Amino acid sequence: MADADNTEAKNYAADVPMRSEPFFLKGSNNLDWGMKNRLAAIFNPSSGRTVMLAFDHGYFLGPTSGLERVDLNIVPLIQYADTLMLTRGILRTSIPPTYTRGIVLRASGGPSILKELSNEEIAVSIDEAIRLNVAAMAVQVFVGGEHETRSVHNMTRLVDMGNRHGIATLAVTAVGTEMVRDAKYMRLATRMCAELGATYVKTYYVDEGFETVTAACPVPIVIAGGKKLPEAEALQLAHNAVQQGAAGVDMGRNIFQSDAPVAMIQAVRGVVHKNLSPKEAYDLYLTLKDGDEHPADS
Ligand code: 5RP
Repeated sequence: MADADNTEAKNYAADVPMRSEPFFLKGSNNLDWGMKNRLAAIFNPSSGRTVMLAFDHGYFLGPTSGLERVDLNIVPLIQYADTLMLTRGILRTSIPPTYTRGIVLRASGGPSILKELSNEEIAVSIDEAIRLNVAAMAVQVFVGGEHETRSVHNMTRLVDMGNRHGIATLAVTAVGTEMVRDAKYMRLATRMCAELGATYVKTYYVDEGFETVTAACPVPIVIAGGKKLPEAEALQLAHNAVQQGAAGVDMGRNIFQSDAPVAMIQAVRGVVHKNLSPKEAYDLYLTLKDGDEHPADS
């Protein structure tokens, strides 16, 4: 039974100002509680960074190398990821609902690798995103592409829908083969996405001037891993990106196409969350590699 009379309560600490901690993520302080809570399921509040495991490639590529069997090749990796980036089809069919970290749902699509890729539309409703309890929705933005305006409009519609319900929007800057992948282009694409409302942005690392890309973008940037590289080079790439201001990686092929994916994702975590040097991370990879093999190969 509740106390009938608590007028004697006196532990008010009236001389102590109420705590009001700034939120740990760049540009996110003025977001609502639900959105911040979801972002804390994507980014690790201790390091302020994330290792997103990306395996949404099938939405335009089909069963690409390493993703033939998500149940065998990807599920063993999910415990090491801060968040998963995937389609609703793979989420429903292949990911255990006991997974409790953030889900970043692929929310745009349409054309396959056989067609003009920039011709995407929004591919999920907000009801479905809420039903799947996602933390963020991811959308391609083709700055300079044939369907630039449509892809930007896809993003702004998702931002409006997501903001209404406290779900973040990840703008994925997709760079067409005809574009120059340099800092000038990345500054334009990432800044446009942030200005038009993206909660955070994914882009590619560039060797020259990447720190100007992160500095000019008022929301967190994560980098795509890109094509499969030798493990030491992929760890160097992740290291360079976080040391130059990226808030983590959204890495797919360089993890799931690695000779030892479980070892590789842990080495990437070392770089992202513990600031391991590329050499320390590669040594960790080699140490862990002995016990790692592709489940689909066994
Ligand atoms: C597809 C994507 C992928 O999620 C992205 O490319 C990350 O994967 P990878 O590290 O293999 O590049 O956004 O458009």
